Amino acid sequence: MTSGKPFPLNAWYPAAWGHEVGRALMARTICEKDIVLYRRADGAVAALEDACWHRLLPLSLGRLVGDQVMCGYHGLVFNSAGRCTFMPAQKTINPSACVRAFPVVEKHRLVWVWPGDPALADPALMPDFHWNDGVEWKGEGGTFVSLKCDWRLVVDNLMDLTHETYVHSGSIGHDAILDTPFDVTHSDNSATMTRWMIDIEPPPFWGAQLGKPGNVDRWQIVTFQAPAVVIGDVGVAPAGSGAPQGDRSQGVNGAFLAALAPETETSCHYFWNFVRTFRTDDDELTRNLQRAHVNDGKGVYDQDHVVLEAQQRAIDRNPRQPFYNLNIDAGALWARRMIDRLLAKEHGTAQAAE
Ligand code: FES
Ligand SMILES: [Fe+2]
Repeated sequence: MTSGKPFPLNAWYPAAWGHEVGRALMARTICEKDIVLYRRADGAVAALEDACWHRLLPLSLGRLVGDQVMCGYHGLVFNSAGRCTFMPAQKTINPSACVRAFPVVEKHRLVWVWPGDPALADPALMPDFHWNDGVEWKGEGGTFVSLKCDWRLVVDNLMDLTHETYVHSGSIGHDAILDTPFDVTHSDNSATMTRWMIDIEPPPFWGAQLGKPGNVDRWQIVTFQAPAVVIGDVGVAPAGSGAPQGDRSQGVNGAFLAALAPETETSCHYFWNFVRTFRTDDDELTRNLQRAHVNDGKGVYDQDHVVLEAQQRAIDRNPRQPFYNLNIDAGALWARRMIDRLLAKEHGTAQAAE
């Protein structure tokens, strides 16, 4: 199955938070596939093509009848496998009357769909997003629905934390990010950017979390899982307390989590969370951290949001202008290479990717 689009279809993408999907029809577009989601009485999530077989009215404008969807135009009913079970004013049901049912798995508090070839939808290929389970790591995140940029710009953004110095100067930015070299390693389907900043003054956000005076050792270990998940293991510990050697017990450890779903070529859904292993029972801290990231334009991710959408508008106006690469882009380049390889595989041009 090829799309010719800049996103692989044969992958698991987040479509919704589990708590968003209930006994009401919910429309979401993933990889230009219009999908209607709902929860069956047995708790399983169904994901159907959001276009009626009869005249293409979005099924999300209809209603749930038991575990089936009734189209809001002429009343055709489809079960959760997408098969039509009722047609008005006729007894025989055309056997071809179906809508597509997408493979769907609920895991790590998110509902993931596979927009490509269902025969390839292997749950073993799901990304590791266990930080989001709310067990060892605590946090509440959110979603940017229809962020107006190519999803790969978000990957670039998260794989290059140098931008913190400029975009987030008042909270997590720090000049030490610029002075500290980093390593990039990779496997077949993941790339990791590791940066340790030793014996630095803590940036305001991290100084407040640590609550101890003095310099810190700060880490940023950011892993991309192809094609659309980024996990950032971040934190600080008092300088010299052994964090680079593996003992983080004196420090504070967080992780930013990003699961992305292309919506169109130039828009995406961005499911984010910031989780932590410190003060995990402190609900007020959970709320404060959520607000630190998204807060009516003032949060850290709101700042990224402005940059990403402005970048996309500039790209739209100058579509043939190339991107130039700096050393800081090494992590993002590995991520892009893996995405390109998946695309080439899907488009049957594996050689082109080499
Ligand atoms: S468009 Fe759905 S029943 Fe006619
Ligand atoms: Fe950022």
